[in-house]
Amino acid sequence: MKTVFFWSVCLALSLGAARVPADGVFDQYRDLMGDDNPAVFVIDEGEELWFTAQGPKSATLEACDLGLGSGVTAGAYVRFPRYFADTNEVMDVEARLVHCMTTIQGRDLESVTAKPYSLRGDLGTEIEALVTWLAAESEGETIAPEQTHAAEREMYVLGEEIFFYRAGPHDFSCATCHEQSEMRIRLQSLPDLTSHAGAANAWGSWPAYRISQGLVRTMGWRMRDCFRQQRWPELQMGSTTSIALQTYMAVNAAGGVMSAPGLKR
Ligand code: HEC
Repeated sequence: MKTVFFWSVCLALSLGAARVPADGVFDQYRDLMGDDNPAVFVIDEGEELWFTAQGPKSATLEACDLGLGSGVTAGAYVRFPRYFADTNEVMDVEARLVHCMTTIQGRDLESVTAKPYSLRGDLGTEIEALVTWLAAESEGETIAPEQTHAAEREMYVLGEEIFFYRAGPHDFSCATCHEQSEMRIRLQSLPDLTSHAGAANAWGSWPAYRISQGLVRTMGWRMRDCFRQQRWPELQMGSTTSIALQTYMAVNAAGGVMSAPGLKR
């Protein structure tokens, strides 16, 4: 019954963003949904993709080291972004997946990065599915991004700088919209990402199923979309800027709990 109600609400909502309920209503409805998040299908798909041989080397991703050793997926997501000695870079989970696809599976960099995020009406991308499954492999875990290597700490400082940097036609920074609590744009509440509580809530709830789009979105996509809201040039997946901003938020969120996949309007 709950499920039937859920899907009818989903259908109604997917007919137009304008019909998405206001915040209070949305919270009630999210509570009602409980575990009925359509992201479960995407989680299954991501797991399947991890174990599917692909590319010229016809390899699965099982040899991929997400920081806890080859093939260890449980609890790996909450430690990102983190430094990897083999690439000498701080990476987010998306950049690490791309690295594994190109090195282990021998796939072409251009083709694996050509379209990381779905456009409206798409059915989801490989990156979205893999990230969603990996996040689910950390569900309930404590957010604990690595900050031991100097490069990881530098990434945080850079992220903080970018977060407060004002530019673009409206002279917006991330902080313009995300430095106070109780702020709203139209009906959408804006978390204070400089506070632990706001960052923990936000960081811990992505990837998320976006009801208005009928798709699971990753934090990398969220960054790109806020760049668009900020009227800045398109943010590239796996770029230093994207990873720096994610490091800033993840470190502010440290100690919070991973509840993804979330459910968003
Ligand atoms: C013009 C205002 C604006 C600016 C500037 C902006 N955002 Fe956002 N951001 C939003 C809105 C609106 C939402 C909620 C979107 C929704 O619910 O559809 C949001 C949502 C988010 C979320 C998800 C929060 C959650 O709890 O789900 C994160 C994380 C985020 N923004 C980060 C950033 C970062 C980092 C920057 C700077 C690169 C930034 N935003 C710049 C308006 C903005």
